[in-house]
Amino acid sequence: MRIVDLHDRLIGAYLAMPIHGDGGKLMLGAGTRLTRSLIKTLRARGYTKVVVKKSLMPDSVPDHPISYQTRVQTETALEEAANRLLAGRSPDLKRVLEAVDAIIANLWANSGMSSGIVSIQSYDGNTYTHSINVCILSISIGHCLGWRLEDLRELGTAALLHDIGKILIPLDLLNKAGPLTAEEHGLMRTHCEKGWKLLSECFNTGGYIARGALEHHERLDGSGYPKGLTENMISDIGKITAVADVYDAMTADRPHRKAIFPETVYNHMVQHKGVLFDSAAVDALLSKVALYPTGTLLSLWGGYIAVVTAQDPRSNLRPLVRIVGGPGASKPIDVELYSRPDIKIDCLLSNYLPDSHRMAAGTLHDIPLDSDT
Ligand SMILES: [Fe+2]
Repeated sequence: MRIVDLHDRLIGAYLAMPIHGDGGKLMLGAGTRLTRSLIKTLRARGYTKVVVKKSLMPDSVPDHPISYQTRVQTETALEEAANRLLAGRSPDLKRVLEAVDAIIANLWANSGMSSGIVSIQSYDGNTYTHSINVCILSISIGHCLGWRLEDLRELGTAALLHDIGKILIPLDLLNKAGPLTAEEHGLMRTHCEKGWKLLSECFNTGGYIARGALEHHERLDGSGYPKGLTENMISDIGKITAVADVYDAMTADRPHRKAIFPETVYNHMVQHKGVLFDSAAVDALLSKVALYPTGTLLSLWGGYIAVVTAQDPRSNLRPLVRIVGGPGASKPIDVELYSRPDIKIDCLLSNYLPDSHRMAAGTLHDIPLDSDT
């Protein structure tokens, strides 16, 4: 199986994993044959990727750091919190905390926190998916930095609600496919203070939850927003959620661009650590996150096509892969990339057909570095 973009060329392909809709209801079961109208419906619901079956592919299952049940529980808690806030009522903090506790328990059980590497994948572009990923990454960073369980719960809650101010931003602006105008940028940036205000008014928790919302776009050198705070003025929660937010935003598809090549994101974060981002948080993230989640399709130098079959604890940049096509490759070959430094990863093959659009490795010259635009 492999993770691919939701594209018309998938007509006739079979789903390898089920797709669930609003409230966790089963929408399409594993084995469903995709039709043009099903693809159109999925796209209309915000899905950008699916997992499909392919006979040549190994029988590996994409990693999920948290269970489907926990994901639904968390999405429900977030949706309830958003609806209550929009109605001028306080969210039920207990429900949110229960969801954070379930995420921590899942991460522990799935080895993401104990020793392994955390794989995150975005199958759709909705804010809840991003919020849950930022929560998972923030908790993983905090754990790597030796935070105590109680502190991880606070960090996870702040991370989960970091973008809550977006409920007050017009939907057409959030989903705009093209670049934003200066005025739209300005409006988008208000989500930090809007989130801070919403959360400070509701929670009597010493402000830690609200600081995630307020500070996740601040940068150590003062170039961030909304206040242009510098290193010593930004809380630890603000520093960690900033790193998690940028990483998830850059590695996911956005309305106006494809996901950025993972090694390019890696290099960007290394290059800017200590300047824009907290060094310890960047190091912790990059030691834990799977740059190439299991199921990702890769093009290797030399024209070989490979699928990631498992993570290698020795390096999150060099997973185990199976070569399934290329010059002279008449049968699948399993390779440990860590042991073969001569084999370079060229690009991600996110579309179904090898000769279609490729997300090439490259620079960030024309890609806005603001995670919300
Ligand atoms: Fe944000």
